[in-house]
Amino acid sequence: MSKEAKQEHPLPKLAVVIMAAGKGTRLKSRRPKVLHEVGGKPLLSHVIGTAARLAENSDIYAIIGHEAERVRAAMASTGVQFIEQKEQRGTGHAIQCAREAIAGYEHILVLSGDVPLITADTLQHLMTLHLAEGAAMTILTATPEDPAGYGRVIRRSPDRSDVDAIVEQKALKGEQHSIREINSGIYAFKVAPLLKYLDKLSNDNSHREFYLTDMAAHLHTGGEKVAALKAEEAVEVLGANTIAELVALDANLRMATARRLMAGGVTIFRPETCVIDAEVEVEPDTIIEPFVQLLGKTRIGAECRIRSYSVIENCTLGADVVVLQSCVLTESVVSDSARIGPFARIRPGSEIGQEAHVGNFVETKKAKLGKGAKANHLTYIGDAEVGAGSNIGAGVITCNYDGVHKHLTRIGQKVFVGSDSTLVAPIEIGDGAYIGAGSCITRDVPSGALAVGRSRQVVKEGWAVARHAAMEKMKSTS
Ligand code: UD1
Ligand code: CA
Repeated sequence: MSKEAKQEHPLPKLAVVIMAAGKGTRLKSRRPKVLHEVGGKPLLSHVIGTAARLAENSDIYAIIGHEAERVRAAMASTGVQFIEQKEQRGTGHAIQCAREAIAGYEHILVLSGDVPLITADTLQHLMTLHLAEGAAMTILTATPEDPAGYGRVIRRSPDRSDVDAIVEQKALKGEQHSIREINSGIYAFKVAPLLKYLDKLSNDNSHREFYLTDMAAHLHTGGEKVAALKAEEAVEVLGANTIAELVALDANLRMATARRLMAGGVTIFRPETCVIDAEVEVEPDTIIEPFVQLLGKTRIGAECRIRSYSVIENCTLGADVVVLQSCVLTESVVSDSARIGPFARIRPGSEIGQEAHVGNFVETKKAKLGKGAKANHLTYIGDAEVGAGSNIGAGVITCNYDGVHKHLTRIGQKVFVGSDSTLVAPIEIGDGAYIGAGSCITRDVPSGALAVGRSRQVVKEGWAVARHAAMEKMKSTS
């Protein structure tokens, strides 16, 4: 939400109650519904995040039930308060379980844990309308392409702003089947009338559940005002009841993220092929090629180029970084103007310095490469420090593991490690040292020294000629 919007319409202290206790039977999954992910994070995390953005002084409650401990553990770090609904007897019953928690507030905002794309702006509009209308209940509605499966909003006449009732899909009768305006499962309530009628809900329906949606008819009949706000973008209120719906929401959310990044000056070629998580940040003038995945809390600086098939998860990249095709980078930091790949694997804890090069089929793990250091081909650098300007030849391997413990390799600045050398850790190579190609280095090498750890070459003049002659002779006599 924009700062201006917040200042124009400050909200009174309110409770946001998120219904998240349901099992999600239609997902046919062992995982609780609200922990299923879209855009790289659980449904419920999206909703909590939006609630937290809406109003800084609001109290957020999550009603949990099915697999409550799992949901509680997954959401513990968000700071929300939990209310348990031990048996899931419907959305109305969920709010009955929150009775004590909400009693002290004048208004509450009820959200559904399985409607993750809702924005703080739309919620702000809902609350503003609710307060302006003096309504007892204000329903967020929408008219999506396909209203099947949703409860429908019954207005006495289309031009009236107030609502008579909400009718669930299964209970629709006759003409009601043609109503396209759906209930989003998101509502603002004035607490006093809500509590007055909450116990009037019955479970006289095909599911034997207490429906919060019935509150609309109860309040209306009781002479209270029931208002509705139609969301501008129906996509914001789509729910996730089946795997197919989850996948569709995921695509929607990722496209929204791609559009947000593009609006900020990032070029994403063929964004529909990219998988970009909701919290990813990219600076302007960076180019992202098709089939790239940017996951978790990845941050990418300006003027980078991320080439196709690279997967970058929870990494921070500086400016002007090039990641060539098919690289996998995880939980690492890459500084300005570094160049990675193609086919490089940057494992957790790597710090690739400014202008450093990590090339073809190179693997790093907990490796710190200094400014301008290069490891261009076929190398493993694990638990190691490589000083600025050092060059690691093709096929060099840090032997960091003795079968029990991991050990460190320290390579100073401007060191030249010849191709196919093995550096048996713990070991230290001083600044400016040279390692002869093919060496197995087991002892520290002082600064400025040359170390060669290989058996001396033997040359036997004419040996091959004699050998060929002997072979020919054997052939002709056999
Ligand atoms: C609900 C609405 C429907 C609306 C739709 C929008 C009811 C009766 N119907 O239907 O009008 O169009 O949402 O998405 O409310 N939950 C609990 N405890 C329970 C039951 C559900 O916490 O006992 C939670 C679920 O975890 C979920 C939310 O409430 O996050 C909605 O429940 P769900 O069963 O998905 O309702 P819908 O059938 O989608
Ligand atoms: Ca639902």
